Amino acid sequence: MITLALQRSILPRVYRNQNKVVSRALHSSLLIYINALDTIYDLSRDLYLTFKMDIAANIQHILTASKDLVLHKLGARERLVTLARSLIATLETPSERIFRLAFAEPANFALVRTAVDLQVFETLKNAGSTPVTVSALAKPANADPVFVHRLMRHLAAMDIVHEASANEFTSTGFTNALTEDRFRGGIIYTYDVLGPSLRRLPEYMKDTTYRNPSDPAGGPFQFAHDTKDPFFPWLMGHEKYMTSFNQYMGGYRVGKPTWLDPGLYPIDSTLTLDTQGEAEKGVLIVDVGGGMGQDLQELKTKQPGVRGRMVLQDLPAVIDQIKDLDAGIERTPHDFFTTQPVAGVYRSCFCMASLADRVLQEPESITCTASFMTGMTDLVSRFSRISSLPCALATRKFSSTTL
Ligand SMILES: C[S@@+](CC[C@H](N)C(=O)[O-])C[C@H]1O[C@@H](n2cnc3c(N)ncnc32)[C@H](O)[C@@H]1O
Repeated sequence: MITLALQRSILPRVYRNQNKVVSRALHSSLLIYINALDTIYDLSRDLYLTFKMDIAANIQHILTASKDLVLHKLGARERLVTLARSLIATLETPSERIFRLAFAEPANFALVRTAVDLQVFETLKNAGSTPVTVSALAKPANADPVFVHRLMRHLAAMDIVHEASANEFTSTGFTNALTEDRFRGGIIYTYDVLGPSLRRLPEYMKDTTYRNPSDPAGGPFQFAHDTKDPFFPWLMGHEKYMTSFNQYMGGYRVGKPTWLDPGLYPIDSTLTLDTQGEAEKGVLIVDVGGGMGQDLQELKTKQPGVRGRMVLQDLPAVIDQIKDLDAGIERTPHDFFTTQPVAGVYRSCFCMASLADRVLQEPESITCTASFMTGMTDLVSRFSRISSLPCALATRKFSSTTL
């Protein structure tokens, strides 16, 4: 009865003016699904209709966003990803959701991490489009092919690799990316270092009576890793993870627009003003906690015309790891809890949102603050729109389980 009403009212609107072939297929699958739902959920009639309308509306938005994607409209891809996720969330039954949370995704991450150690992704990439047997995949680490087969089948089910035949697999764009340091490092760092903090978060929160974690030496990270060290000092003492963290910092925003792309930061009216005379010798920008110089390198590459000194600052162990960086970028080992060595007035100081938040909320905690807040004209933060001081900085807060 409800299904019939829906068929007459809501669904036709879903595909009005849309691609008829796709929409008819969606329509009939949706009706089958809706019939099945009658037996799964015990919803009131109103809730039931709202639920179906959510699905119908979601599909309509997906069709619109797909068209925008074809037209290369900014944000269409991200919108499609969000809509697809929300469609799955609406369609999944509770037991499917538990299965995904408990088995499918955790096993997926654990197996991708294991595959990194087995060099499975390198073997797949080296083979190009030729399918690789399980025995060949097991070879580099002398692993048991029976285990590798189980691993590969899960990865295929999760769309990480392609299953070419019962015993053979091929790479995907994602697995090829995982052969690069910046992405492989991301898997190693997030699984080994971040993973335990998240896994033990419920235990930590219960132990601390659900207080908001604020002690940099007593957060979920320290609890999970059984240490009293704040995150970065701990990282500096674990070279393997410092390396993978730094590699990941060079890769985590690949494919996203940055502050140097059109429309995000007024490059032309700020940085490129300094193209003449004295500005040549002056400091253009100081990147505090700039990692291995990824942002300044991008600035050099995308804005070759800007003049002035570009100063990269980070902890000595990080600066020491830099391999490729434009010779014009000054590499300075510096702890931002000590006095800022770059004196005088300069245009911009670049830092992550987390640091920018801290600068504004607890200025006394970062001793370089005084010098760069009086000296510079802009505080630039990766995750925020840009504000000129002394106005409030509109940073977008993001949660960090590591700090
Ligand atoms: C989240 S990473 C961001 C790296 C880079 N700014 C980026 O956005 O890709 C934070 C950086 O701050 C650096 N850092 C942490 N504590 C520091 C300190 N006391 N002094 C200087 N740099 C520090 C880390 O080494 C790391 O490179």
